[in-house]
Amino acid sequence: MITREQNELLTRTGPGTAMGDLFRRYWIPALMAQELPRPNCPPVQVQLLCERLIAFRDTQGRLGLMDEFCAHRGVSLWFGRNEENGLRCPYHGWKYDVTGQCVDVPSEPASSGFCQKIRLKAYPCVELGGVVWAYMGPPAEQPPPPAFEWVHLKPSQLFISKRWQECNYLQAMEGGIDSSHVSFLHRGDLDSDPLHRDTDGAKLTRSTNTVFDILESPGGLMIGARRDADPGYHYWRITQWLMPWYTLIPPYKGNAANGHAWVPMDDYNCMTWTMTFHPLRDLTGEELELMKKGAGVHAELIPGTFWPVANRTNGYLMDRAAQEAGDYYSGVKGLAIQDASVQESMGAIADRTKENLVSTDNAIIMARLRLRKAAQAVKDGKGAPGLDPAAQNVRSASFLLPEDRGFKDAALEATKVRTGEQHVAV
Ligand code: FES
Ligand SMILES: [Fe+2]
Repeated sequence: MITREQNELLTRTGPGTAMGDLFRRYWIPALMAQELPRPNCPPVQVQLLCERLIAFRDTQGRLGLMDEFCAHRGVSLWFGRNEENGLRCPYHGWKYDVTGQCVDVPSEPASSGFCQKIRLKAYPCVELGGVVWAYMGPPAEQPPPPAFEWVHLKPSQLFISKRWQECNYLQAMEGGIDSSHVSFLHRGDLDSDPLHRDTDGAKLTRSTNTVFDILESPGGLMIGARRDADPGYHYWRITQWLMPWYTLIPPYKGNAANGHAWVPMDDYNCMTWTMTFHPLRDLTGEELELMKKGAGVHAELIPGTFWPVANRTNGYLMDRAAQEAGDYYSGVKGLAIQDASVQESMGAIADRTKENLVSTDNAIIMARLRLRKAAQAVKDGKGAPGLDPAAQNVRSASFLLPEDRGFKDAALEATKVRTGEQHVAV
């Protein structure tokens, strides 16, 4: 349980809020590179940290991310014409380049110098790992580009999807670091999901006696979840939580690894990103097809949108018969929508003053504390944590360990990125 003030502090992300200022120190996944497939393609609306923005790729292929609304009288530049190195508002023809600078006001003589004085707020972008990343913080504090293992793999080794989730980022992210729910909410899927079943890990994860051992790491938390295995052994799953909203899910043997990012759009909506990647091999055509249809930790989307087919408006396609039979523990199909449905049911912003936390919520408690400390550090003029590339370039892992061995040394070893080597998984 936390106080109302603490809950406000952790969940509000607009300009000038504590979390908003912290999050603006990181490169933020803004949109998928494929949403802007070619020069002069249609512009795309983007919402980040309570700001409404427009993204476009100009004639030279440069990326622009700026205020969605025209400086003249506030028309959405989603209607804009992307032409000749700029986005032109269709109402009265004002035009902006990728830096947000107004470059043409047709009604005013060029000699007046009027348009030079008009500039929309714009943010720098980098394209990496199939993602367009935005930096929305103070220019002097711009960090090195993202260094997660998956951003440097070949495109054929990586599949990314994103889905709109109708709740605050924090309760969604808290689901990602709460390994104990897997044994319940996703129980049926461990047996049936084509990207999980038939691994020892999936069988062992069904055990519900989860015990946590959590270490602070330079970039966040290394969360060890221990379950019973064969006599004398424990099964450990090591989830990485990386500042400010990333997780790396412990892999199942032979399968690709998964990670998430929960990016606040505003305080009542977040974009849930899912990255599936294999450090050694291309993803197979079958894997790609399955993921597009909602297997693994991806969701099936309404074509042309990032809205899941199963969503709040249709009761997430609840199947009571499947719930009763145990095929889907909650009656909702698919790991991603199972997560989304329970998290959205908590309300737009979960009321954390009413919680009753238990020992399996320790990672959540520690992550909240870490976020608050990081926000305070930024406020005090100190740097934000986890920006060092070495802090981001880590792996998740799962392994068996004799009961009498502590997990720390084994986890530190198993979570190192070894280029050209398989991730450690059972
Ligand atoms: S509102 Fe955009 S040019 Fe007038
Ligand atoms: Fe989950």
